Amino acid sequence: MKVLIVGSGGREHAIAAGVAASPRVDKIYCAPGNAGIASLAECVPIGPMEFDRLAAFARENEVDFTIIGMDDPLVGGIVDVFEAEGLKVFGPRRSAAILEGSKAFSKDLMKKYHIPTAAYEKFTSPADALAYLKTAEMPIVLKADGLALGKGVLICSTYAEAEAGVKEIMEDKKFGAAGDTMVVEQYMTGREVSVLSFVDGKTIRIMSSAQDHKRAKDGNEGLNTGGMGTFSPSPFYTDEVDAYCRKYIYQPTVDAMAAEGRPFKGVIFFGLMLTEDGPKVLEYNARFGDPEAQVVLPRMKNDLIDVMEACVEGKLDEVDLQFEDNAAVCVVLASDGYPVAYEKGYPVTGLEAFEGKKDYFCFHAGTKFDDAGNIVTSGGRVLGVTATGRDLAEAREKAYQATEWAGFANKYMRHDIGSAIAEAGQ
Ligand code: GLY
Repeated sequence: MKVLIVGSGGREHAIAAGVAASPRVDKIYCAPGNAGIASLAECVPIGPMEFDRLAAFARENEVDFTIIGMDDPLVGGIVDVFEAEGLKVFGPRRSAAILEGSKAFSKDLMKKYHIPTAAYEKFTSPADALAYLKTAEMPIVLKADGLALGKGVLICSTYAEAEAGVKEIMEDKKFGAAGDTMVVEQYMTGREVSVLSFVDGKTIRIMSSAQDHKRAKDGNEGLNTGGMGTFSPSPFYTDEVDAYCRKYIYQPTVDAMAAEGRPFKGVIFFGLMLTEDGPKVLEYNARFGDPEAQVVLPRMKNDLIDVMEACVEGKLDEVDLQFEDNAAVCVVLASDGYPVAYEKGYPVTGLEAFEGKKDYFCFHAGTKFDDAGNIVTSGGRVLGVTATGRDLAEAREKAYQATEWAGFANKYMRHDIGSAIAEAGQ
């Protein structure tokens, strides 16, 4: 079987590793891929938003199955283009990817179907938003409606901050058209948990839980990033929380999408907040999390292609999704200065130390080959160093040990990924 993966980050590297482990797969392509993915797949220089070129490539190379890793092409309708060409593709259609593509849509959906989430209002006029914010309780959350590279969420502690946020999102259009509509949401407190799931339009299978660390610096200080590290499972995601979410959040979301005539096939990522009033949905994503995939997929026992195919064919009810009874921790090695300004092009060393070690993974996020064929840094997040262990403490120790193996000139990482593990007595 020939498989094409669309994307170029650590998430796509983790997907590629899962696909490569399937005995059903003979050949993997990745568009555009990166220097790490190139060890598993033939990288193809086609951008993720070049839908027609990607579909033509899949047709001409007799690709049997395409996996879309990234949010932008999904929200832009790549799956519809592939399906129109009769190509088998994993991911939600445009009409369903709106679950991630529009925060106003997802909030309205949750309200209509009584899925627990924070109270909210939505605005298309800055003046109306400001009038509302004048009397609103602080802190408050402002969210640009559309995709904004994970950066369109502002937490404001005072009216002055909220006023500046409205200007940034709605007037200055810092996030482009994503800010044409803005959601203003009640600020929730609690622990965040990421829960990924496979969905086939009607059935949902939940993957093992994870927790991301979004801030750039230790102690959850600094700016929001795409994610500086993860661990799985989350000790805070108890059986009780799981039972509640299955009843009030997971299946109700799938049923709501179907009832709206937008059946969802692919991965739904539930960003949850475990509040004093019970779990609530912070956000939905329509794809694997990054770096959540880097700790969840290495723990999955099933053949990834079998599960994804079952999603596409509406046969997920026949799948018994299983995870190893172990744990994983991923520490992101970033370029110092990320997420603002950072230098790239530095040689990456020590990668061979990961070879042949089954508990260790070095997922590439921002790497490429230079003209001489050496692997160099090419992004803010460079590598996702993952280790599995019997429990979270062991996985954490191993992951941090392995962060010393790989090097580049401006290497930066957080040193407290998974510190919550100790807090939870693990
Ligand atoms: N780690 C958060 C995300 O993938 O959006």
